[in-house]
Amino acid sequence: MAESMKGLRRSHRCTEVSRNNIGETVTIMGWVQKSRNKGGIIFVDVRDRSGLLQIIFEESDVGKEGFAKAERLRSEFVIAVVGKVEARSGAINENLATGDIEIRAKEIRILSEAETPPFPIEEDSKTKDDLRLKYRYLDLRRPDLQRNLILRSKVANITRSFLSDEGFLEIETPMLTKSTPEGARDYLVPSRVHPGNFYALPQSPQLFKQLLMCSGYDRYFQIVKCFRDEDLRADRQPEFTQIDMEMSFVDVDDVIDVNERLLQRMFKESIGIDLPLPIQRMTYKEAMERFGSDKPDIRFGLELKNVSDVVKDCGFGVFTGALENGGSVRGINVEGQADMPRKKIDALVAFAKDFGAKGLAYLAVNADGSYKSSFAKFMTEEELQALVAKMDGKPGDLLLFAADEDEVVFDVLGNLRLEIAKNLGLLDKNVYKFLWVTEFPLLEYSKEEDRYVAKHHPFTMPMEEDLALLDKDPSKVRAKAYDIVLNGTEIGGGSVRIYQSEVQEKMFEVLGFSKEVAYERFGFLLNAFKYGVPPHAGLAYGLDRLVMLMAKVDSIRDVIAFPKVKDASCLMTDAPNIVDDKQLEELSIAIDRKNIED
Ligand code: AMO
Ligand code: AMP
Repeated sequence: MAESMKGLRRSHRCTEVSRNNIGETVTIMGWVQKSRNKGGIIFVDVRDRSGLLQIIFEESDVGKEGFAKAERLRSEFVIAVVGKVEARSGAINENLATGDIEIRAKEIRILSEAETPPFPIEEDSKTKDDLRLKYRYLDLRRPDLQRNLILRSKVANITRSFLSDEGFLEIETPMLTKSTPEGARDYLVPSRVHPGNFYALPQSPQLFKQLLMCSGYDRYFQIVKCFRDEDLRADRQPEFTQIDMEMSFVDVDDVIDVNERLLQRMFKESIGIDLPLPIQRMTYKEAMERFGSDKPDIRFGLELKNVSDVVKDCGFGVFTGALENGGSVRGINVEGQADMPRKKIDALVAFAKDFGAKGLAYLAVNADGSYKSSFAKFMTEEELQALVAKMDGKPGDLLLFAADEDEVVFDVLGNLRLEIAKNLGLLDKNVYKFLWVTEFPLLEYSKEEDRYVAKHHPFTMPMEEDLALLDKDPSKVRAKAYDIVLNGTEIGGGSVRIYQSEVQEKMFEVLGFSKEVAYERFGFLLNAFKYGVPPHAGLAYGLDRLVMLMAKVDSIRDVIAFPKVKDASCLMTDAPNIVDDKQLEELSIAIDRKNIED
């Protein structure tokens, strides 16, 4: 039976004990990591969230009964030990914070026994993800996950402290609310009191934070759960956390300024990284032209080059054909990789095709100046030389080209650039390269809906100099919207908001919303704007993504205590699940049984 801890009180976490405590009696409580019985002496490593500590049991110290208990210890038993701190008698363990000391046990209690866990509780466990997630409470005992969650807590604390010092107020906004316009599908919650009616869980607190500006709170922030029913990826979860903020009487530079200082403080105080300010800025247009992406990873080069003008009259139909159709031909110079084996090049071609390329043309400039190429035979020597020169190619370089409409070329080469960098080991997780991407397009055309949709959200302010284009050529209008990108991940985004009703009405018109629809969906905001609205702007970070990059892990799952898997289910609780008929009845909900999986 489990023993009580009556009369005992934990004095230290494992790694809070050090050489400074030698000679003192301490009380340690934690989990048995490992126990080794060497005959008359038993060594036990005890673990808590701080780390490991070695305990020594000898019958002469703990007595017959105590020693018998020590003999029974197995992994993951929870114990309390009272003992004296001593310098380590055996070899010092350099890998352990407490490697130069040990505790000589005087008393032991077994607070809880444990079954053998389904996988070992250790760092970098090779256990399959599904098993780890099913037993997440055990997985969370692993030191790497514990470090990640401790880091996350630190980042949240630094954020709170910084923003409070800057005059931001932490204000909560509702979880049971109305659909917000962030463009993903909503999670709906049925109302019992209003049969047939649903709340939506917030995709972000966007409209509420704008209302708070209308109410005069002038600087708001919140560390807040957001819900989006979208396809999951390594950096996407159905529920995730934003560091969300909004400010009144500001423009783009004010938002950027306070956020640069927040990031600087966060990175210094949580992981000791110096972030030199100001952070580089780049327009969306430049980001696309140079990196084929609106969230470029600028830790490495491999930039795109537009070679359309040098190939426009060449003999290679793939290139000229793309140009005739209004597209472009662009390339990447993979320096020093002319010798890349054919197999690897073929793999890159296949990769490009996955992103919609019809092919990928390559030209390797051999050391002797000759070429190895999939298309050289279609071009004259002069044409080839001009092409190589445009790419700054030199002997030893491998040039890769995509020809298609711009959208496809950017997507293909943008992703190819990342793939090559990964293959060449250029993605150093210890390097942090931040970038503001600015002047995003206000709108994008949705083929599916056959109308323009807001690229950020419908409350984003167009750039003043582009306002006149809203009527003439909406696709050309740039927005006062900005993203903060870190190592190729969008960690945050925001915008200056529209606060003039004429501009807002125009925006709804371009988006194809009638006044009635606009009022039905966002009437509370539009009405609030009638009673005195300050110019305002804001931004939200994805906290999970931020901590993922700080912790140098590949998935936001590793920085979320209880994450969901790809199909948005929780392997530990089995959510979502079927509910009782009675619950459904109360909600006036009938299930279409043919859609239900067994
Ligand atoms: P946005 O939609 O860009 O902006 O979201 C802000 C940041 O939230 C993170 N993020 C996610 N993280 C994990 N899983 C997801 N499914 C997910 N979706 C988004 C990203 C993103 O940059 N209301 C605006 C902000 C504003 O204008 O102030 C908004 O929500 O890191
Ligand atoms: P083909 O004449 O179709 O065999 O193509 C000759 C070379 O051009 C092959 O290496 C193809 O992979 C490549 N290619 C085909 N279409 C494109 C394209 N749209 N952009 C770049 N290269 C292409």
